[in-house]
Amino acid sequence: MRATVFAAAALVGFHTTSVALADGDPTRGAQHYRACVACHALEPGLHLSGPSLGDVFERMAGKAEGFVRYSDGLKTADFSWNAAALEGWLKDPEAMIPGTYMVFQGIADPRARADLIAFLEVAGKPGGGEKAVANGLIPAEYLRAGAPEPIGDASPETRVAAIRHCGDSYFIKTEDGRETPYWEKNIRLKIDSVETGPPKGVAVILGAGMAGDRFSVIFSSLADLKSLVEEKC
Ligand code: HEC
Repeated sequence: MRATVFAAAALVGFHTTSVALADGDPTRGAQHYRACVACHALEPGLHLSGPSLGDVFERMAGKAEGFVRYSDGLKTADFSWNAAALEGWLKDPEAMIPGTYMVFQGIADPRARADLIAFLEVAGKPGGGEKAVANGLIPAEYLRAGAPEPIGDASPETRVAAIRHCGDSYFIKTEDGRETPYWEKNIRLKIDSVETGPPKGVAVILGAGMAGDRFSVIFSSLADLKSLVEEKC
């Protein structure tokens, strides 16, 4: 019976509202939402690799304020994210918006999609993320998801004073006066220009990944990166 209803929903397409999804279970949907956490936060306005889903429900597609990396397909889309639109998207994003930047193969199981949509109907409305946490649907970490921890007040051993690149190495001087050599492949230069990043004019070196010899140097702007790094032997 349910299968017939879903088949009908598929036929009417994503732009009409659908009754087929009415019995989705948000608690089970919260489990499926784990597949989204790597790229999306539930705090409204907090954009990670993908735009915030904190107020996605009934938001116009491709229009989250402050998210500037939409594909042309989503940017020019003219529909809002109701249950029927989400059904098409979660089934096969690439089929719905060819050339989408969302690297996700889709969810084949219609039951799982209905549950996830029921979850988004709760969590994807303003204040919904907190509500989902309060109801025990998701851990509080899902609100900010993959957003980095704010760097805040960095200690002098982690504040970078200067970076020399020479041969295949970086020589990184920190504000405690030490200069340490690193193999260039073990250093990632990153910019975190939003409030989680270092204060303007400050760069910070932090351990990265499992291996103890990998580090990220995080700058607050490209201008800081350009002024702190030089080629010098
Ligand atoms: C690998 C990262 C990644 C994963 C995993 C991912 N997304 Fe996305 N998502 C994106 C990106 C990037 C975009 C923007 C796509 C574009 O512009 O074409 C996006 C866009 C969206 C949009 C459209 C938002 C808007 O403002 O129009 C929705 C809805 C969405 N994702 C839901 C989900 C859900 C639900 C899941 C989990 C089942 C998920 N995404 C998993 C990266 C991801």
